[in-house]
Amino acid sequence: PESKASVQPTYVDPEVRSIKPEILILVGLCTHLGCSPTFRPEVAPADLGPKWVGGYFCPCHGSHYDLAGRVYKSQPAPLNLPVPPHSYESDDVIVIGVDQENA
Ligand code: FES
Repeated sequence: PESKASVQPTYVDPEVRSIKPEILILVGLCTHLGCSPTFRPEVAPADLGPKWVGGYFCPCHGSHYDLAGRVYKSQPAPLNLPVPPHSYESDDVIVIGVDQENA
């Protein structure tokens, strides 16, 4: 839950993995072999089963990530989805690739 092995900037909240809890910025490439996980926020959809509580699903080999992009145990993917450096230029503009210290 603390995302200790994640690729993420130090200025994000480690529990929600974001600066603002209502907005999550992730690199959309599975940490297994690089496919694109799909955002599946619904609970218990027929194709993912009754235990699915929402998150990201990789269709290539079935890795499951939670809504903060953290991978569950015993999945093909070894790590959480990366959070790239980013910052807020204003409430409406997010700059990807530039962190809060303008590095
Ligand atoms: S590439 Fe996502 S599970 Fe293999």
